[in-house]
Amino acid sequence: MRPAAVLFVALALSTSVVVASDPPNLEARVQALLAEMSLAEKVGQMCLGGRGSRGSYDPLPEPLLEDARAGRLGAVLNVMDRGLMERLQRVAVEEGPRGIPLLFGRDVIHGFRTVFPIPLGQAAAWDPELVRQAARASAVEASTLGVNWSFAPMLDVSRDPRWGRVAESFGEDPYLSSVLGAATVAGLQGDDLAEPTSLAACAKHFAAYGAAEGGRDYNTVAVPETVLRDVYLPPFEAAIRAGAASVMTAFNDLNGVPATANAFLLRQVLRDEWGFDGFVVSDWSSVTEMIAHGTSADPADAAAQAAAAGLDMDMMSGAFGGHLEWLVKEGAVDSARVDEAVTGILRVKMKLGLFDDPYRRSAAGAPLLAPASLDLARRAVARSSVLLKNSGDLLPLPGGARVAVVGPLADAPHEQLGTWTFDGGAEDSRTPLAALRERLGERLVSAPGLATSRDRSRDGFGEAISVARQSDVIVFFGGEEAILSGEAHSRADLRLPGAQEELIRELAATDKPLVLVILAGRPITLHGLLEHTGAVLIAWHPGTMAGPGLADVLFGDAEPGGRLPVTWPKTVGQVPIYYGHKNTGRPPPDELVPFDEIPVGAWQSSLSNTSHYLDLGAEPQFPFGFGLGYTRFAYRDLEVSPATVAADGTVNVSAVVENVGDRPGGEVVQVYVRDRVASLTRPVRELVGFERVELAPREARRVAVEVPAERLGFWGPGGERRLEPGRFSVWIGPNAAEGLEGEFELTP
Ligand code: BGC
Repeated sequence: MRPAAVLFVALALSTSVVVASDPPNLEARVQALLAEMSLAEKVGQMCLGGRGSRGSYDPLPEPLLEDARAGRLGAVLNVMDRGLMERLQRVAVEEGPRGIPLLFGRDVIHGFRTVFPIPLGQAAAWDPELVRQAARASAVEASTLGVNWSFAPMLDVSRDPRWGRVAESFGEDPYLSSVLGAATVAGLQGDDLAEPTSLAACAKHFAAYGAAEGGRDYNTVAVPETVLRDVYLPPFEAAIRAGAASVMTAFNDLNGVPATANAFLLRQVLRDEWGFDGFVVSDWSSVTEMIAHGTSADPADAAAQAAAAGLDMDMMSGAFGGHLEWLVKEGAVDSARVDEAVTGILRVKMKLGLFDDPYRRSAAGAPLLAPASLDLARRAVARSSVLLKNSGDLLPLPGGARVAVVGPLADAPHEQLGTWTFDGGAEDSRTPLAALRERLGERLVSAPGLATSRDRSRDGFGEAISVARQSDVIVFFGGEEAILSGEAHSRADLRLPGAQEELIRELAATDKPLVLVILAGRPITLHGLLEHTGAVLIAWHPGTMAGPGLADVLFGDAEPGGRLPVTWPKTVGQVPIYYGHKNTGRPPPDELVPFDEIPVGAWQSSLSNTSHYLDLGAEPQFPFGFGLGYTRFAYRDLEVSPATVAADGTVNVSAVVENVGDRPGGEVVQVYVRDRVASLTRPVRELVGFERVELAPREARRVAVEVPAERLGFWGPGGERRLEPGRFSVWIGPNAAEGLEGEFELTP
């Protein structure tokens, strides 16, 4: 707690301004400061400068210092040296016209120095508290360096694994993404933004960036308003409700209007409907990219459109800095709009306590890579890894097993970190090979077989096969290198790259039990490979503690706790494939004619004229929500009450869940609904709640999930929320394809 006296700090400046982060006074003080500012100074606050993400400045470039001194800068990004940050802040505060402190932004996405599993992996944990703790630990580390603003969470619902940024998402489901997005905001921002370890969060990329056509990054997005509001907007609304201080616009156009100048999004939805009072920043140069989009003639035109639509801060394009002042003077942009933008920016700076202590320090100067963060990261690896197959209980491995560790990602310290890890170092990574060697000593034999995930050479196969032959079990660590997912890293082929499939087949031919551990930024199609494996564990890109975390899972010290946050396709040709799809008028029957059995010369309509692929059917490889543990659970005695629920009521859905195995274990109990008859077509299933339980062997417990009726609504084409009376099916179970089924009635 800061003493009341320090809430009011007169900055010793040429032009002294008294400001504070004390909530009752905050608005008045923002307005007082605003009233003193010139138009040029206001525009200055709307400019985010800095540099690319690699490395830091040394020394600080004179033009940046000059901008800070002249009040032409509101925030900087990627200045990653405490001393340089302090110097720049000192120039802004002591030499700038109003002494307004700068924001220091950074992509603190899934860790800082301690790297946690990628967001898609964290989503697989279905554990909001874990996600909150990981974000908190990341904020503590980043704030130690002087960062006070993180460009996270990314809330783009993503239903296309070709898109490289699926790695940064919480997957395909609006509800899961909403819960985890809010948890990330809570973790980054802490209990009070003014605490020195709190970072202002930035909900991005607003909006529908994940719906980029064909999964090609930055691509055009065409989604009707109903789908936008049902699927893509809810995580943003949840983040705003959780108090996210800022929002970043998306690179894409949405139904013809670039998100960066989209008044529907920035004015109507964000401010008028949700009451957002922070500020909106563009994505990197997305203001001037509107010239390439073809909706702006030049940078001045782009600046005018973006500012007028509701953009408050320009990241790196220079269009606001170069043109906004005269655009206002000419009357092309309303000065009230500029005041609104600057109010939001100053409000966040005050809430952060920057006017009280522009050089906010982490109270205890928390160490990087603290044992508690590393321990959390290790637990997160186990919790996020998803066991897709485990024939004959191959896993966990017996303690005395002689293990052959093979594959290009067994000892790839950089690759295990995944995308967006500028501040984490490969030198801190604990690899699977190292961790397993520590555990097994002489009982480990290893050979990578392939140098990288894309290696096509068979030169290393011989040695890999030979170590495999000396073992009781082969553990193959493969997948994708870090560079193959993330921004602008879309893939058209979702199979294991390089010669990995070939190597896996040859390893399987040794007849030794084979465990595949996949490290990747997205679902990797395993069609045609699964039958060659005994067990498949999806580890995503697990981060710094990949090795110890995966060793814990492989040897049963921890369970694989993950459940898929995305539907897992058989092949790329099924994409997009997601569980919450509409039914069509011709849903496929349970039984389809297998491709090879289609009679030659068959009549055109003899195969059922229904919605499916002739060669692969209608089902994915694994459904959303799926994941095995080391024990088994049985569900019984469904109860849905009340049977009739009012629009302001709550449905309680419960079942007895029993651990029918011999080991303690955790289950993610999932509840889905389907609106049977509605004024618009509705998804065949929608996740509306989940609960994690830990049960001892043979323990049975009634697990209940409360579903507020409000969650059963959807959006009409005019932006109206509909909560329609009628019958709903409900399921409680282990994934989106199974579960006990019941029903209830929603009344007006
Ligand atoms: C990305 C954003 C990121 C920004 C700043 C952009 O290229 O799309 O997600 O926050 O760069 O690094």
